[in-house]
Amino acid sequence: MCGIVGIIGKDNATDILVQGLEKLEYRGYDSAGIFVTGKEQEEYLVKSLGRIADLQNKISPEVQGTVGIGHTRWATHGKPSERNAHPHTSSNRQFILVHNGVIENFEEIKQEFLQTKSLEGETDTEIAVHLIEHFAETGLSTKEAFKKALTVINGSYAFALIDKNDPDTIYVAKNKSPLLIGLGEDFNVICSDAMAMLTETNHFVEIADGEMVIVKADKIVIEDQKGNLVYRESYEAQLDLSDIEKGTYPYYMLKEIDDQPAVMRRIVQEYTNTLGETIIDEKIIETITASDRIYIVACGTSYNAGWVGKALLEKMTNIPVEVHLSSEFGYNMPLLSEKPFFIFLSQSGETADSRQVLVQVNEQGFSSLTLTNVVGSTLSREADYTLLLHAGPEIAVASTKAYTAQIAVLAVLAKAVGDNKRNQFSLDFDIAHELSVIAAVIETIIDEKMLISQLVEEYLTTTRNAFYIGRGVDYYVSMEASLKLKEISYIQAEGFAAGELKHGTIALVEEGTPVFGIITDKKTAAHTRGNLKEVESRGAHNFVIALASLSKETDQFIIPDVHPLLTPLVSVVPTQLIAYFATLQRGYDVDKPRNLAKSVTVE
Ligand code: F6R
Repeated sequence: MCGIVGIIGKDNATDILVQGLEKLEYRGYDSAGIFVTGKEQEEYLVKSLGRIADLQNKISPEVQGTVGIGHTRWATHGKPSERNAHPHTSSNRQFILVHNGVIENFEEIKQEFLQTKSLEGETDTEIAVHLIEHFAETGLSTKEAFKKALTVINGSYAFALIDKNDPDTIYVAKNKSPLLIGLGEDFNVICSDAMAMLTETNHFVEIADGEMVIVKADKIVIEDQKGNLVYRESYEAQLDLSDIEKGTYPYYMLKEIDDQPAVMRRIVQEYTNTLGETIIDEKIIETITASDRIYIVACGTSYNAGWVGKALLEKMTNIPVEVHLSSEFGYNMPLLSEKPFFIFLSQSGETADSRQVLVQVNEQGFSSLTLTNVVGSTLSREADYTLLLHAGPEIAVASTKAYTAQIAVLAVLAKAVGDNKRNQFSLDFDIAHELSVIAAVIETIIDEKMLISQLVEEYLTTTRNAFYIGRGVDYYVSMEASLKLKEISYIQAEGFAAGELKHGTIALVEEGTPVFGIITDKKTAAHTRGNLKEVESRGAHNFVIALASLSKETDQFIIPDVHPLLTPLVSVVPTQLIAYFATLQRGYDVDKPRNLAKSVTVE
């Protein structure tokens, strides 16, 4: 979703901003822009619809300066257009602003304060910059006008503001949207994601909601809402530039699929000792053990991983588990048990839908844990506990390694709580060994890429729609497999409980419709095969992904056997590759599907 970068104190501000915006491309956007100025008060505002490459084409060599801000926009208020792209300027062109988030009361602000102003576009950000100008016109300094505007604005925001009459300062403020300050020698940077500025620094300072920061080349000053000074240590980002580069891979998604064996091994390393025992904070284990129900709350792929987590947790801990969509749960909260425990699954740790649930959970004083890939992310900071996924940065919009990492970490957690409860199934389960087997099996599946590519040519090159079916955990994987396929290849795909298909949806099956059956569970294998026969006799083009011990010679893709509880970690891998090759063969951008954003920071 929208991204912010800023720099103050370096001669090549333009290059740094553009490179930073490139690093944020993966988050999804439809337009971009930069504003650059400097000591001579030269000023350049360049905006473009489309990709950063289009913006770069519009930046002429004289666009230079020592201070600047840049933005990638994912349209919320107002359609994608150059006019609506950020940075936005005030009427007198003195103030230049970029914004991530959503201003909820922008209509009211317009009515109350901005009747006399003429606005160019339809964005809520333009309202904010005009509001700052309005307060400055009453005689307030830029800082005070900005502060006053923040007291009027309701909603989520990360703002970076430049007053072109004072090019020695960038004013920054945040509420609910991520923003960091990066520290350099005689320069400082700002960014909504540390990755954007890793080439400049790996020392960052977090900003808390409600704070304002005055950023100069040689210092930063943080103030809380009451104007008190805040001192905060910087931290070193444990990120390496090579983690965010795709090297020889054509697409990040392929690299991230290939990363999965290494991620499984890293999870074993991080969460188990040499005896194979789990290493998880005792407080987490005790709090879950004392709970009477676990609520998993998540969106999209993380939600799909949550269903597999439910199977693992219930089997090993005997604690009932419910899985909920964040966007529904927050506004239609079910009756909760007496001692609920909340698990938030979020690769990015920034998803606004999940965050609004966590805010309510905190207000009600319930215990919570976030599983996330991003250290220091909002959901991590605001939950009682965090378990990191250790998957390394995931750049492709379509999540792959974060899904398998979430399941693996949930398996370790289930084992830790299960052992604490002396659950026999859990005590017999050697998690370190089983995850190491998983890593090796994923490698063998990845080695079969070319076979999958050929099969995809046969099954998916021209189809408009497709189905994935399965039962139990195979159904859960079907949901994820179909999400993957539809979000990047634009083939309309549905993941269905195999037995439910005949109760209506089978009407959509016609001659040649691809139906992918996932079969990894002994007790349901025969039934799913029966359902596959039903669709075959109605013309479906069946593709079976089966565990070796349950396979038939006619099956299209066979997976070596793994522990029955962990089959989703392997059965999902061919489906990731199916989505990848289908997209490639249709000529779409695998990493940056249309309309989507990597980190969804608006509700
Ligand atoms: C799909 C995908 C999304 C995310 C969802 C939640 O491939 O990545 O469905 O899973 O937007 O994001 P996180 O996990 O960051 O909360």
